[in-house]
Amino acid sequence: MLDLAIRNADIVTAADRYRAEIGIRDGRIVTISEDVGPAREEIDAAGLLVLPGGIDAHVHLAQPQGGGVVMADGFESGTRSAAAGGTTTVMPFALQQKGQSLREVVEAYHAEADGKCHVDISFHLIITDPTPAVLGQELPALVKAGYTSFKVFMTYDDMVLNDAELLEVFDVARRERAMVMVHAEGYDAIKFMAKRLEEAGKTAPYYHAESRPQSVEREATHRAISHAELTDVPITIVHVSGRDPMEQIQWAKRRGLNVHAETCPQYIALTADDLKGLNMDFEGAKYVCSPPPRDTDSQKAIWEGLRDGTFDIFSSDHCPFRFDDPAGKDVAGARTSFRWVPNGIPGIETRLPILFSEGVSKGRISLERFVALTATNPARLFGLAPRKGSITVGADADLTLWDPARKVTITHEILHDACDYTPYEGMEVTGWPVRTLLRGRTIAAEGAITGTPGQGVYLERGTSRAFG
Ligand code: URP
Ligand code: ZN
Ligand code: ZN
Repeated sequence: MLDLAIRNADIVTAADRYRAEIGIRDGRIVTISEDVGPAREEIDAAGLLVLPGGIDAHVHLAQPQGGGVVMADGFESGTRSAAAGGTTTVMPFALQQKGQSLREVVEAYHAEADGKCHVDISFHLIITDPTPAVLGQELPALVKAGYTSFKVFMTYDDMVLNDAELLEVFDVARRERAMVMVHAEGYDAIKFMAKRLEEAGKTAPYYHAESRPQSVEREATHRAISHAELTDVPITIVHVSGRDPMEQIQWAKRRGLNVHAETCPQYIALTADDLKGLNMDFEGAKYVCSPPPRDTDSQKAIWEGLRDGTFDIFSSDHCPFRFDDPAGKDVAGARTSFRWVPNGIPGIETRLPILFSEGVSKGRISLERFVALTATNPARLFGLAPRKGSITVGADADLTLWDPARKVTITHEILHDACDYTPYEGMEVTGWPVRTLLRGRTIAAEGAITGTPGQGVYLERGTSRAFG
């Protein structure tokens, strides 16, 4: 006897769309056929699409900030918001601060997340202090234990790695078969620009965008690609914002290099003009993130890249800070210069609706491509396939029932995070997740959270498919 049968399912995968029934037992898909037979519980999915639960491969939750700033979402509110938005797995970062052992970092993040998650989670490591012990012992041991990806930064005080350090980390990644995610913006160029703008009295949030133009991202993207070529390791360039860095990625892919790329909702739904707020006021801080949103030409380029395979994955880069809060965007100093405004914007719950509406509903990408970008490819790139990311026999029954015709106006009131705004306030979308199932259990339905914290489990991961 099945635990659950989903009837009249219009199933979408990265390859196909077809009508069938889905049979679920013990949290896994055990059969897909025209008639799966009797079950203890039934869902009639007529009129809805049945998609693999979303996988958001880039989120920040409960990440320590320093300087009195506190991230708005921890593991409970962040994963609750993910569930309501049709996402069943999130991949937050575990940040190493200088001087910290990676083992300690991982243990602290587990202690923080344990028992709180509504959806499944798995950590990427952020390497900021690549000491001989980290490179020689801790990283190899952690990769073997299932932490098969890490992020490095080419910018930000306290996080930036120099070229020699990047090469050392890349080399370990090649040896241990781990995926490196690269934040590609050039540190020195940004410092130079920020100083110049401040000296000219250009301190409003908008100048954050002017301090990190596309050339800064383009140069760092190319440098990261060259280092990856030299060390013969796959990399993923994360949060790619526009045409210039994209061209470097296309160049690398044409050369047959093992380079992958991610983009995010802010680069299709926002522009640098949003950082101007109302007449260059502090409202613009709501949109401060790095790299910053660009212009309509870049949005056009991003759509081409989402269609043609330049981009492999579409993540939120959810990095929430409350707006009206001295522990958030309004921290001491933020009104005196863009340099002190915390970088990052929320988006874990709106990621799928925005891509669906702007992409599928407007005819820019196919349904299959939507599934590839938001579930199947992230699972493959980060070692979660075949358990996650597709609707197939043997996989976890992580499913999102999607109403392609539902029209919704996004407002922060209807979202489930712990931030106090959404950058997409007032945006109208067509297509909405109406029910989210994690291993066959309904964790969110019609905007209500029906699961409980602790239902999400920690996922140890295998090797990225980028290694073949
Ligand atoms: O502005 C952003 N994206 N903040 C989050 C940290 C990062 O670089 O991903
Ligand atoms: Zn980043
Ligand atoms: Zn990020």
